[in-house]
Amino acid sequence: MRQLNSEEFEKELSERVEKIELILQEALPAHITMQKTIRDAMEYSLMAGGKRLRPLLLSETYRLFGGEDMQQIHPFMAALEMIHTYSLVHDDLPAMDNDEYRRGRKTTHIVFGEDMGILAGDALLNYAYETAVKGAAACGQPERGLKALEILSEKAGVYGMVGGQVVDVELTGKPLEEEQLDFIYRLKTGALLEAAFMSGAALAGAGDEELQRMERIGCLVGQAFQIQDDILDIVSTTEELGKPVGSDVRNEKTTYVSLHGMDAAKKAVEEYSQEALELLDSVRGENPFLATLITALIHRKK
Ligand code: FPP
Ligand code: MG
Repeated sequence: MRQLNSEEFEKELSERVEKIELILQEALPAHITMQKTIRDAMEYSLMAGGKRLRPLLLSETYRLFGGEDMQQIHPFMAALEMIHTYSLVHDDLPAMDNDEYRRGRKTTHIVFGEDMGILAGDALLNYAYETAVKGAAACGQPERGLKALEILSEKAGVYGMVGGQVVDVELTGKPLEEEQLDFIYRLKTGALLEAAFMSGAALAGAGDEELQRMERIGCLVGQAFQIQDDILDIVSTTEELGKPVGSDVRNEKTTYVSLHGMDAAKKAVEEYSQEALELLDSVRGENPFLATLITALIHRKK
């Protein structure tokens, strides 16, 4: 598939991310009285300026399959980013990674207290489904909305992100076998990326075979993404990442890099991404921005 040159890509990327920021801001709960603190904590974490990768992948896959009514997918884009954000808020809690910095600023529980940190995550998760269900009911083709909801809920839950996090938490401090590390990466990080590709396709009316192909692409991108995360934890800086580097070594975590070495890790990122791009070529439709975005993830610095 054709790729954009870096100038075209950067321009389109910043336009799209700007649009996502607006969608997220508008999706936040509006009718607040005494429970204002929770809205503030939701806004603090949701509007902290991440890469917005998951809503981007959802909307670009929707376009790839010929989807045109962008308004219709906004609730799903917002819901997916809310689920991602809740997972980060909970992951940073003292009971899990106990992290004080994320996306260049203090984590939610540091600013709002541990109780509100827990509740902010709970609120974002519930509000994600509230938003997506309303989106599904309002969209012209509710069966497509329902399919997207099924994908989202499955990939975020026991068979997806939560399942991966459970194994990660349980095995923390123990040396991991390759198979265990793969399982954690595939579920903890990969599942939400699979959800982005699959739900975007489902909302555009893709069939089962196409959904399976998008799931595979999401899985490959997820592996590449997580391995790149491991690499950046070693080679990047705190300023660039917005969170402390070297935490994997400090916490004695088994990562792809500690298991296979830096060179193999870099090679794996290239190979998984290449395979994802080849698969992308095999689906109907054309989206040079999406192909360029996947390529850009290999070289990402944060
Ligand atoms: C960084 O995403 C996040 C990951 C690589 C996934 C980590 C997964 C978890 C912490 C799962 C936690 C799950 C539970 C249930 C607590 P990113 O680089 O896209 O971050 P950004 O949005 O800040 O750019
Ligand atoms: Mg963590």
